[in-house]
Amino acid sequence: MSSNNTVTPDKPFTTPTASWFKPTITLDEIPKPALDLLMSCTGLPLDKIVSHVNEARAAAWLTAPYPCIGLYMFLDLHMSQHPLYPTLLSRLMHSPTTRLVDIGCGLGQDVRKLVSDGVPATQTYAVELKAELISAGQDLFMDGGRKQSLISFLHGDAVTDDMEQWKRKLDVSDGFEMIHTGALFHLFAWETQLAIARNLVALVHGSDEAVIFGWTFAAREAGLRSVGPKKEAVVYGHDEGSARRLWEEVGEATGTRWEVEVRIAWADVGEVAGLAKGGSWGDAEGNGIMWFSVRRV
Ligand SMILES: C[S@@+](CC[C@H](N)C(=O)[O-])C[C@H]1O[C@@H](n2cnc3c(N)ncnc32)[C@H](O)[C@@H]1O
Repeated sequence: MSSNNTVTPDKPFTTPTASWFKPTITLDEIPKPALDLLMSCTGLPLDKIVSHVNEARAAAWLTAPYPCIGLYMFLDLHMSQHPLYPTLLSRLMHSPTTRLVDIGCGLGQDVRKLVSDGVPATQTYAVELKAELISAGQDLFMDGGRKQSLISFLHGDAVTDDMEQWKRKLDVSDGFEMIHTGALFHLFAWETQLAIARNLVALVHGSDEAVIFGWTFAAREAGLRSVGPKKEAVVYGHDEGSARRLWEEVGEATGTRWEVEVRIAWADVGEVAGLAKGGSWGDAEGNGIMWFSVRRV
């Protein structure tokens, strides 16, 4: 397995490239769940939504020229598409002591969707490397004084930070019953993914019910690969075996054991979900989206 750590979010994604920057979006292109979320959070009329989204997106793009920002993928609310979402949503709504943290939250759309679906904001947390994205999200969803303003956001680094400090800062001494990462693992080479996974182990609650879940880029053959319309980004694609191996290695390093479940939607990633706005990446056979969940056994 590669120990090459050259893939970092600050490397392949630093140069804004036209191929994953869509200059604007039409109202029709905004998926209905995102439109509903934006309207309920902001209270803006329909005819103001596109310009409002573009304003917040421009601020986010300056600091984070990722496909998820340039191609409006943040409007796809991926957490709510995870196969476990209905079950986890119900648990959060019925158990006031259960808490969820979204790590690498970007604009924080996924946690705001949870709150809009009925989870108390006080049970939801989100961590992001780029403080500017947290504030762009607060502008996008016009949090001031609304119920989503009670979500706890933390500026932090999931690779290098001390998780005990996160717990102290977030005042969650026992850790989180649910940890979500969306489009985070694939930004990194193996060793860095291991470092993140070790941190998640340190952050997760000790109960049997605790779960780490999310999505990451899938590939028929695991490893680093170039993706994008012009193959201009390097990401790590997981297959089922590599996802299991990652958690085996984390288990060995931390004296824990993990059961991994994955579901892969094979697709031209350029054409699915948010990337629909980016067009084909010409790789329907080799790439896909992996929905994963991991529990301690
Ligand atoms: C591809 S984006 C996905 C954002 C969001 N989860 C979504 O689905 O829209 C990856 C996010 O992870 C953040 N990130 C990258 N490295 C990180 C780190 N070491 N710690 C915390 N967040 C990180 C990036 O700044 C970015 O917002």
